[in-house]
Amino acid sequence: MKGPFGFFIHPLNYNDLYRVMPELINKRPDFIEGILKWIDPFVAAEVEIKTKTNDVVFGMFIVIPLLAKQFIEDEKLAVNKLIKGSNLAVKLGTKILGLGAFTSVVGRAGLTLVNLFKERLYFTSGASYTVASSLEVVDYNIKQLNLNKKELIVSVIGATGAIGKAISHLIYKDYKKIFLVARNKSRLNSLKNEILLNDPYFNKENIIVSTSISEATKVSDVVIIATSSPKELIDVNDLKYNSIVCDISMPHNVSKEVIEKRKDVIVIEGGIIRLPSTPIFRKLFNNISFEDIIGYPKNNVLACMAETIILTAENINENYSIGRNIDSNKITKIKQLADKHGFTVENSILTNIRNNS
Ligand SMILES: NC(=O)c1ccc[n+]([C@@H]2O[C@H](COP(=O)([O-])OP(=O)(O)OC[C@H]3O[C@@H](n4cnc5c(N)ncnc54)[C@H](OP(=O)(O)O)[C@@H]3O)[C@@H](O)[C@H]2O)c1
Repeated sequence: MKGPFGFFIHPLNYNDLYRVMPELINKRPDFIEGILKWIDPFVAAEVEIKTKTNDVVFGMFIVIPLLAKQFIEDEKLAVNKLIKGSNLAVKLGTKILGLGAFTSVVGRAGLTLVNLFKERLYFTSGASYTVASSLEVVDYNIKQLNLNKKELIVSVIGATGAIGKAISHLIYKDYKKIFLVARNKSRLNSLKNEILLNDPYFNKENIIVSTSISEATKVSDVVIIATSSPKELIDVNDLKYNSIVCDISMPHNVSKEVIEKRKDVIVIEGGIIRLPSTPIFRKLFNNISFEDIIGYPKNNVLACMAETIILTAENINENYSIGRNIDSNKITKIKQLADKHGFTVENSILTNIRNNS
């Protein structure tokens, strides 16, 4: 048996919370948020997974009881909870701790925890496998439609973040033009300069920096979005006809209206992974199902979870995807290890298959 690993989870929004604690449905939001602030991290479930190489990996899901919006509103409170959660992980004997959803967005993308828990615990945000698997699913859909990337315009929204930056570096050459989008213009310009410094002969006109999401999405054939905003950022009228959108953000940034009304657009969830075998669960919080805790069907998990499981199966005790400069060698390596252990990418489409009629 390999492990145990630890993995931080948290409710993204009220829907997540109501799914696991329906008794809260009629309570006031300020009351619920006040209560969450006082609850310490706890283990919600234990899991055992056999990989394709017959390695059995054991791990524990540790809940950081805060909503996504609370991580953004009060980073100090969030980081204190992460420290408490990490201390709990040490007590439970875990060596590697995966940082799910907003637990990797605060605390300098994991660096604060890495510095505090040196030698005692290793961390990963799962960004490497999230990048590899999201790009794989985008490429799969482009191929299905017989499109040629060299004729397409792509937008990366959240381009200066851990995931967005790694994606921008990997794909800028493949497409006709790339829009790099976020709110902070000087960080976007630095990213553009970084790309051009590595590739001085690349035509700089083909990299466009923008702080307006709709300016970019209205002309883009492919949109990849990975932001730390818990809000809906892409509206129904902001997308080009017949475009492909890959929403990696948790919670998603594509509005519900896009999903419901834009049947011409393919909206894919990025970073959804099928496990190599059906996992065994124990000690489930409130006796609810694992699907309800994680929010996906039983054999599907997020790439950040999958990365933590794979690192454990390989006994890789090092800080893997940490900070906002993800190493491209680690992206290649985690993809190879995922293949070795039988993890596959799920083509999780949120809209119906394109209706061209
Ligand atoms: N599927 C998975 O397995 C998985 C794994 C890891 C992470 N994630 C999710 O992926 C997302 C990104 O994670 P990350 O680690 O890359 O985050 P990050 O490093 O904090 O980067 C966030 C990016 O979003 C931009 N941004 C924030 N608010 C914005 C807004 N309102 N409009 C436009 N851009 C905005 C930021 O730039 P500015 O501040 O300049 O705007 C930055 O470029 C998160 O939602 C996370 O939960 C998913």
